Amino acid sequence: MKVLDNKIKHVAIIMDGNGRWAQGRTRPRIWGHVRGSSVVSDIVEEADDLGLKALTLYAFSTENWSRPPKEVMTLFNLLKKFLFKEKERIIRNNIQFKVIGDISSLPDKTKELILDLENISKDNTGLKLNFAFGYGGRSEIVSAVNRLLLEGKVQVTEADLSRALFSPETGDVDLLIRTGGDQRVSNFLLWQIAYAELFFTSTKWPDFTPEEFRGIIYQVAGRERRFGQIESVDSLSESHRMAKVNKELIEKNPSQVQ
Ligand code: FPP
Repeated sequence: MKVLDNKIKHVAIIMDGNGRWAQGRTRPRIWGHVRGSSVVSDIVEEADDLGLKALTLYAFSTENWSRPPKEVMTLFNLLKKFLFKEKERIIRNNIQFKVIGDISSLPDKTKELILDLENISKDNTGLKLNFAFGYGGRSEIVSAVNRLLLEGKVQVTEADLSRALFSPETGDVDLLIRTGGDQRVSNFLLWQIAYAELFFTSTKWPDFTPEEFRGIIYQVAGRERRFGQIESVDSLSESHRMAKVNKELIEKNPSQVQ
């Protein structure tokens, strides 16, 4: 389906509120992650149905390593189960799967499953599905800079940095959604959200539904995006192009501009 005139191509989600959801039901926090992981598949399917180009999900941050080891292991196990359960569907639906972040400390079997699914799905042309796991936005930027230094660069452009990120093909984020009621970005995709629309819902992740997801996307698609201009424009690159033209005009002929 060609959706929303391509206004929203890349959606990123901070899936927050699992622990509080479970605690509110006098269950251990881990129960919230288990319920939350079953929501992930429904949201991926909805993203695909809506015709989004990319979906990036924050499943485990660099800071989440500080949680109790049992909770950390639960998240690793849920990732493994997700990979087992969803592999066939990902392939059948032409989805390109990728993990962004540092997975070096994950159990070997999980790493194998990740690499296998990344490899099998790498030429798929449908939805690009990124799982941010062991991910931190600042650390992604630092690793991009280090990669460019290794290439021998002594000075970098924004375009250089963009292409040295973990998933350059996914591009900038158009819409960042955070569930769970808090209003912060928590070190997620710091470079890519520079011009993103932000949407915060108080719904805790295990209660988040495809209907709410769709509703948010349609609501945000109705917002005017100006990327620094005074009128609505389609993209940041269009705004950059206009800025360049104007800057040259003003620099060459300041007296003509009244
Ligand atoms: C935040 O909730 C959520 C996470 C730290 C992990 C997100 C993980 C999932 C949705 C399940 C994992 C799914 C897969 C497929 C790997 P929180 O625990 O910080 O909630 P709280 O703010 O209520 O404490």
